[in-house]
Amino acid sequence: MSGKCEATGMSQENVSKYQYLHSHLTGTLEISEPSPDVLAGFVKPLQNTISSHSIHDSEIKRKDSLFNHLKKSVASKFPGSKLSAFGSAESGLSLKGGDFDLCLQIPDANEKKILKKIGGMLRGQGMEDVQIITGAKVPIVKFIDPRSGLHVDISINNTLALHNTRLLSSYANADSRVRELAICVKHWALHRNVSDSVNGTLSSYAWSILVISHLQEQGVIANLQSGDDRVVIELDDSDFDITINEENKIDAISDAKITHLLLSFFTNLAKRDWENDVISIRNGGSISRKEKGWKNENPSALDILNSEKEHPPRMGEHHLAIEDPFDLDHDLCRVVRPEGELRIRDELLRAAVLFGNGSTWKEICETVDSERLKNLEPVDIFHDLRDKSTESVQSMLEKTRGEMDALDRRIDALESERQSNLRMARAMRGIIEETSDLRKEHKSTIVRIKGRKSEIDEIKKKRDKINSDVILPIHMIEDELSKVYKRLTEELDIHRVPSLKKEKEQFSWFMELQAMHGKAREASELHQKFIELVTLQKEEIKKLKIYETKHDDATSKLLEQEPLLKDKNINSKEVGSYDRRVQNIQKALRQRRGEMHKLRREAGRLDAWLRKKSNPQQSNRNRSKRKGGRGKKQEKSSGPMTLGDISGLLSGMTSEPSSKRTRKVSSKKAGMRKMGNLSAHRGSRGHLKKKD
Ligand code: UTP
Ligand code: MG
Repeated sequence: MSGKCEATGMSQENVSKYQYLHSHLTGTLEISEPSPDVLAGFVKPLQNTISSHSIHDSEIKRKDSLFNHLKKSVASKFPGSKLSAFGSAESGLSLKGGDFDLCLQIPDANEKKILKKIGGMLRGQGMEDVQIITGAKVPIVKFIDPRSGLHVDISINNTLALHNTRLLSSYANADSRVRELAICVKHWALHRNVSDSVNGTLSSYAWSILVISHLQEQGVIANLQSGDDRVVIELDDSDFDITINEENKIDAISDAKITHLLLSFFTNLAKRDWENDVISIRNGGSISRKEKGWKNENPSALDILNSEKEHPPRMGEHHLAIEDPFDLDHDLCRVVRPEGELRIRDELLRAAVLFGNGSTWKEICETVDSERLKNLEPVDIFHDLRDKSTESVQSMLEKTRGEMDALDRRIDALESERQSNLRMARAMRGIIEETSDLRKEHKSTIVRIKGRKSEIDEIKKKRDKINSDVILPIHMIEDELSKVYKRLTEELDIHRVPSLKKEKEQFSWFMELQAMHGKAREASELHQKFIELVTLQKEEIKKLKIYETKHDDATSKLLEQEPLLKDKNINSKEVGSYDRRVQNIQKALRQRRGEMHKLRREAGRLDAWLRKKSNPQQSNRNRSKRKGGRGKKQEKSSGPMTLGDISGLLSGMTSEPSSKRTRKVSSKKAGMRKMGNLSAHRGSRGHLKKKD
């Protein structure tokens, strides 16, 4: 067994891969208690993490618009159906850029069939990356809305999820530390890659349940599922107790700060003896395995890891046992695979160790797989301005505005060039269409003339060939024929001695004349045909000239109306070249408008920073004032802003420098704006109401 740890059976490679877990299992891991100073050092970074994940108005608007659009375009196609939002977007426990979970409730539905149908509709609407996942516990259709950038999951009849979302939302409303701790834990889990149920670690939902369980055990929140009045619903022939008592309180509520709560979350879970009990928020934190009836089954994750078999057995169940609050037979760790389980335990130990050894929050959350997080990571859009003086940001803003003006002029020039090319192409196409009947006639006459010409040539050739073979003209042949015939058939002159030789000659001459006569007749018929065709050809050529004159007259009349086209070659090729020019200008315009959009964003960003710097209070007040409806779930954000936030800022900006710029928004631009704001296309904007 060389190279393997004797105590754990782990290979050297796995010892270093799961170093914290290995040390823990061999009893050599030290988790120190951080000093108050060290803990104090976590306050600001944790606050920054929390505020960086606060959801801005613009994100709520994007979700509302998309929700309304899907309600109209998808849900309305299934009679009796109801579309509801659930998950973190509704519970308020969402990280910035979190997905958007939707549930379509349809009575007696064939889920797979419906998901396929929805997938088709979404593809038809231009939604991206549409995938239908039917293998999971809850089949879903996943897609990305290219306009809002939102990642959406739609499931069918996922009714319990609507209820557990309501439960999570009630917990989030019970104490602000629920959301704060959930955000810190989810942020850490996301960066350490232990929150991905598809890839064998815990779901984001499971981490929320762990947070709630911890806060119940720490005396921060009461058990909201306890109480005498029970609400039971029946789903698929089973009863589910979905009681939520929002009024439940605890007598002596803990005033522990978020830093302490996060530290104890990591250390408690890291040191947790999973053998003993099951996480159960329904039971106020946990419940004994015996009471729950869930055994920590073999083989363990470590057994599987150490197995030398090519196909190790299936891992036993209920190792990191977490009971779903309503679906009591559902263990949230069912999705966890052996490697995932070991990584989760290793990561919890690592976080606890680093917390105690003076590492920073940034180090604790150091990203494991940055590629995976590319689109999710909120970016502090002011990061490059924080060290700059107001004057230098002001001059950056001036420069950007100067570039915007120059670009605006360039866009105007390109636009008028595009218009003139478009006009040319249209005018040419108009002339071509107006004279198209004449040109059609002209063309078909030419085709006929060409065809007839080769027929004439053919006939002429045949006729001339016969004429060169038959030396005598037809009338002479006929004369000669009758003479010879007469000679051959007249009465015999008894005074003359009959000559057989002469008779033979006369016969053969007669035969020859007969053959010549047939040919000559053919030549004469060919000649006749030739004359007819030549006459027809002359008439057609005359017609051709008439068409040409008519076409020229019509064209010059149209040219009088469209002087632009004077001295131009008017044909489809030329129209094509104008069309291509229009397309190229269009492409350049799109590019320039994209640049303009970026410049406008940049000017907005700089302007927002200057305003924020000159009056931070005002800026915060404005923002929090704008947060209606879901305000409870949102924080006043003083931390880094994201690109989503800047769209919100821009929509609220009134200080656009040049009035010319606002006036000049073309209908095209307005159209593009509408595209950005889905609600403009998709009817009046509604608000997602919390569903019962
Ligand atoms: P997610 O795992 O997406 O969680 O499950 P989330 O809270 O929305 O987190 P982020 O922000 O996307 O990372 C979405 C919802 O699916 C239901 C829950 O209602 C959860 O809120 N769900 C998920 C279950 O009911 N059971 C599960 O095992 C997982
Ligand atoms: Mg979600």
